[in-house]
Amino acid sequence: MTEFAKRVRGVSGDAIREIFAMMADRELLSFGGGSPAKETFPVDEIRAIIDSALSRNPDGLLQYGMTDGWMPLREAYLEHLVRGKGVRADIENVITLTGSTQGMSIVAEAFLDPGDKVLVESPTFLGTLMGLRKLGADCIPVKGDDRGIVIEDLEDKMKRHRPKILYVIPTFQNPTGLTIPEDRRKEIARLAGVYDVIVIEDDPYCELRYSGTPVPPIKSFDGSGHVVMVNSFSKTISPGIRVGAMTADANIIRKASDIRQLADTHGVNLTQEICAEFLNRGHMPGHLKKITPIYEERLAAMLGGISAHFPEECRFTRPEGGLFVWVELPRGTDSAQLLKRSVAEMKVGFIPGGPFFVNPEDGANCFRLNFSSNPPDRIADGMERLGSFLKKAI
Ligand SMILES: Cc1ncc(COP(=O)(O)O)c(C=O)c1O
Repeated sequence: MTEFAKRVRGVSGDAIREIFAMMADRELLSFGGGSPAKETFPVDEIRAIIDSALSRNPDGLLQYGMTDGWMPLREAYLEHLVRGKGVRADIENVITLTGSTQGMSIVAEAFLDPGDKVLVESPTFLGTLMGLRKLGADCIPVKGDDRGIVIEDLEDKMKRHRPKILYVIPTFQNPTGLTIPEDRRKEIARLAGVYDVIVIEDDPYCELRYSGTPVPPIKSFDGSGHVVMVNSFSKTISPGIRVGAMTADANIIRKASDIRQLADTHGVNLTQEICAEFLNRGHMPGHLKKITPIYEERLAAMLGGISAHFPEECRFTRPEGGLFVWVELPRGTDSAQLLKRSVAEMKVGFIPGGPFFVNPEDGANCFRLNFSSNPPDRIADGMERLGSFLKKAI
């Protein structure tokens, strides 16, 4: 067969495909996914918005649109989700996206040549790690603790490696669920200016807070224009509509728009209109009030089940929001092997930690649990089963 291009030869989702194939069994209780709960989709609001939008502006919605994004959404995003968080931005600082994934990919493409260095959290979101590798980036992990990225290590690596980009998920991180506090966010923004590093602040979970107080985005402390804040409607409205948005220096937005023109020309007008109207009709605060208790209850069921049933030597995070809990087993444990046995013997699935690390062996003893996709009673049952399995297995 004709050879694939060199730059995509290393691109493979096989490891993840294998994990999900293993968990395709209908009887399996899976904590592997990362999808929002189906009960949270605002179906009635979306139906009403589509009806009125198609009556009001069919030509505009069905015609080609702008590469920078659907203007009503750019404006609504600025007004409802950006300025209120202390970020100074105008319309030229905003582009909407076909899912926030497109933001990471465009910014990486804009700044990276093969071999350029990118600093990432350890662990980090697998999807972005794969995207960065596709571009030939040399990803370097930065140490983390229970307050996220460790600033001393970050500065040391910025000095030594001269990276082009730092990729960070500051709120309810995927996979750990941890949140970087304000003091560290300020330092990240400051260091980005000092060492001339673009920060991709990937923040899809920030609206899903169940306890504690909101923390301002890194972008709100950006005095030098190095921070690109990427947001998503996937976890608040729906992932299937594929809408995200990002805020950055106007030069970066212009380049992003040029690159995006070649990728998909522009986002889908209709789904952008859904998000714009959802914000402009004031649905978002009430919607979040409705859906966060659903997740809060699921998270409590998971943490309660882990505390009650997991072996004492397990460490786990206690997130204040998001969709994930991260579990660390004693060093030397192989979570990928444990997954095979857990699926076969207990019919319970999770995502092994290795793929979330630049060096997979660093996370071999860890795994990620998702609490959004099952009701509390199933979560409680799953944690009891998994706990009794782990007690025997490790
Ligand atoms: C950290 C992180 N960034 C980005 C995404 C993708 O979001 P979107 O659906 O907006 O492309 C996810 C989805 O799981 C995620 O966890």
